[in-house]
This record gives sequence, structure tokens and C-alpha cells, in this order.
Amino acid sequence: MSAPTVVILAAGQGTRMRSATPKVLHELCGRPMILWPVAAALEAGASRVIVVGGPDGALDGRLPDGVRLAVQSEAKGTGDAVLAAAELIEPGATVIVLAGDVPLITAAFISELHAAHRGAATIATMMLEDPAGYGRVVRDADGGVERVVETKRPGEATVAELAIHEVNTGIFAFDGAKLIDALGRVTPDNFQGEYYLPDALGVLRAGGEHVGAHAVDDAALLLGVNDRIGLGLVREEAQRRIHEHHMRAGVTIVQPASTSIDAAVSIEPDARIEPCSQLLGSSHFGAGAVVGPHSTLLDAKVGRDCRVLRSHLERCELHPGASVGPFAYLRPDALLRERAKAGAFVEIKNSDIGAGAKVPHLSYIGDADVGEAANLGAGSITANYDGTKKHRTKIGARVRGGVNTAYVAPVEVGDDAVTAAGSTVTEDVPAKALAIARERQRNIEGFSDRSSS
Ligand code: UD1
Ligand code: CA
Repeated sequence: MSAPTVVILAAGQGTRMRSATPKVLHELCGRPMILWPVAAALEAGASRVIVVGGPDGALDGRLPDGVRLAVQSEAKGTGDAVLAAAELIEPGATVIVLAGDVPLITAAFISELHAAHRGAATIATMMLEDPAGYGRVVRDADGGVERVVETKRPGEATVAELAIHEVNTGIFAFDGAKLIDALGRVTPDNFQGEYYLPDALGVLRAGGEHVGAHAVDDAALLLGVNDRIGLGLVREEAQRRIHEHHMRAGVTIVQPASTSIDAAVSIEPDARIEPCSQLLGSSHFGAGAVVGPHSTLLDAKVGRDCRVLRSHLERCELHPGASVGPFAYLRPDALLRERAKAGAFVEIKNSDIGAGAKVPHLSYIGDADVGEAANLGAGSITANYDGTKKHRTKIGARVRGGVNTAYVAPVEVGDDAVTAAGSTVTEDVPAKALAIARERQRNIEGFSDRSSS
């Protein structure tokens, strides 16, 4: 059995989404919906993957390398969409047709359908308790597939047809040459004036070809997204699968229902995710890391045994044993080295915080290099922006920064130096020195007696 060509239909307007964003570009667990079936097709070892997009170019540059994009110039139906890919379909190929709005399909199911396919066409069907909106599969007296009847518009299907619970999943396997030939004979004489792909089945049967059906056990696999309610249902299912994958691999998710984990997130065993947390983008979590409750991490790399409590982290990196929060904000290119700490109400961006260094309270550290084991007191602020340019602050190893020290960049504080509380450091501080940069205190005796008289 040679590898199939997979054609993924994604040129429809998705009007039921009521959105300025094309349906297949709506996000599903961290990646656009269209990339889900594309990933499944690639994983199934398709010899060629063709996505059919619309003329608006919305998919340009959005598909992985090697995936072909065919353009359907006008959304004239699913049958017409397949024809838009016709010249990219090799003669003799088995064609698996997927829909860009049926994102939960797996590589295993594509292979299963391919293996079950024989003759001219095989339609994947499923039984739904509530089949509303789907095309119904009409069987003949012998149980063969006669045709699919669409149900979107009132009057399209009879009452008896509407009572059928077996639906067209929108997924098919075809003999490529026979498919193209049959689509050439499909006519748009229906309620929508469209060329319907399922009508190819009737054409093939009329020509004496074998049309089979392959029933799906797990209907959740092939749920379609037509509106935002469907997107919500599919997201729930996708999320459940992602959770189960991680839990099977040894991750504790304390409260799955309140935890979002994107598809590309990786988590090592014995990490623990506390409730109400979002692990997004391509974040990574090392073994023994504890995250949450109430934390959001986007594209963050969290090392072994780190602790992140009630915080927001984006594009930053924590080395093993680092701790963050509660209520910290780590912005892009913040790096906490081994056992470093960013404590309560601390914001850090584009800074390298050395091993064992601590920024425990109420501070802003931007564009800084902080040496190992330094300890910056509450209210440490890097004045990194002069209104035009950003400048760097360099703080040496073991520096003890007094509370409310402002480091006016560019400025350098040497190893083992100390700054006095309330200092505004505008000049470099030599190693081991104490910097005092503040007005000396004067006490004016009897001041209140004088002002109240
Ligand atoms: C389609 C099937 C229906 C099935 C359902 C399963 C048809 C006529 N109906 O209905 O039997 O139960 O899927 O989910 O096939 N598309 C194009 N170009 C077009 C029209 C659609 O590329 O001109 C794409 C869409 O982007 C979408 C897919 O084809 O990814 C399905 O189109 P959609 O309009 O959602 O079809 P359904 O009404 O859901
Ligand atoms: Ca659909």
C-alpha cells in the first residue's frame, strides 16, 4: 500500500463563525485550526499534503514546508474545492480528503481509513446523538451507501432523512483518477447551488463503482467546527487529550478543568500544575517544577524543580531551582539562573539574574546583568530608559543593594559592593565599596510648634 495524497479543504468562508478571521485560522490550543489536520496528515506519512485555500491568501506562509497550497478561486462547494487541487494529485494516487474544520483527526485514523479503503471511494461516517447540521448518510436496502443528503437549509432533507443519525464526517478515501472524473460530472443543482463532494459518491455508484463506508467508533475524533459553539466543544476535547497525554507521562494536573495547556507545550514527569493555570505556546517544564495556582506562562522555559506561584511569564527562562512570585511579571528575555528568585510584585525583562541572586520584593529590573548571589532590596529600580534609548545596568556578584536603590543606566556596580538605602546610583561603584547617593538627613527641631503658631 503506497502512501496516500492528503487533500485538506480550507477555502470555505466559515460564515457561521461570524468572524473577520477565516475559520481555519481560529486558534485551537495554541495553533491555528488548519495546522491540526496538516500535522495528522504529515504524521500519517502522506506522500503529499495539499491544502485548498481561498483566493484571499490567508494561508500564504502559514503552512509547514513541503505542504502544497492550491487555490479555489471561488467557494463553490467542497467538490469544487477538491478539483482546485486536481493538478497536484498524481495519477494512481489514493486520495484522502480531510476538512480544515475537522481538526481532531489523528494520524492513526488516517492510516486506518487508508487501510480500510477499497474500490473507488470510502466515506468515513459516525453516529451522532444530535446530528444537526451534518449531511446524513442514506443507505440502500443492502446497507450500501447510496448518497449523502445535506441538511443545512430547511427542505433540503425529508423528515425521514433528518431522522438518520449516521452522518458524513467529511473525511473520505478515493481512487484519485476516479474521484476527479466523478467530480467533473457533479452538478450544482441543490439548495446552495454548490458542487458537493459527497455527490461524487452517487456518480461513482451510478457508474458501477464500489463505494464503501468506514464507521468511526470515537465520534469526538471527527467533530466539525462550524460556529463558535462547535469550536468550544472541539477545544474541550482537544484539551482533554492534551491533559491525558501529560498525565499518562507522569505529570500531575491538580484541576484539569481549570488548566489550559497548548499542544506544543512539553512537560517532564513529576512536574505539578496547580489550578487555574495556562501553559501556552511552546513552554517547557522540567521535572519537579511546580506551577500555579493562577499562573500564565507563554513560551517560557522552566527548569527542574522551579517554583512559579501566581505569576505571568512570557518568553523567559528559569534554570533549575529558580523561584518566581507570588505576583511576578517576567517579560521576554528574562533569565533566572540556578536558584535565583524573583519575588512578590517584581517585574523583570531582558535581564540575566545570576545563580542564587535574589530580587525578593517590589522591583523593576530591565536590561540588567545581576551577578551570582546578589541581593537587591525592596524597591530596586533600574532606570534603563533615558527617553530615547535603553541602557544596561551591570550589578556584580554578591552585591547587596539597599532598599529603594535606583540604578540609572548605563551604570556598573562592582562585585561585593553595597548600596545604601534610598540611593540613586548614577556613577559606577567600585568592587567592595559602599555607595551612598542621597541627601543627608537634617532634622529641624521644633518644626511643628513653629508651623502651627
Ligand atoms: C460538510 C459536508 C457534510 C458533512 C460535514 C462534516 C458537503 C457538501 N457537506 O458540510 O455532508 O456532514 O461537512 O463536517 O461537503 N470548503 C472549501 N470550499 C468550498 C466549501 C467548503 O474549501 O467551496 C471547505 C471548508 O473550508 C471546510 C470544508 O470544506 O473546511 C467543509 O465545508 P463546510 O461548508 O463547513 O461544510 P459543511 O456544511 O460542514
Ligand atoms: Ca463544516
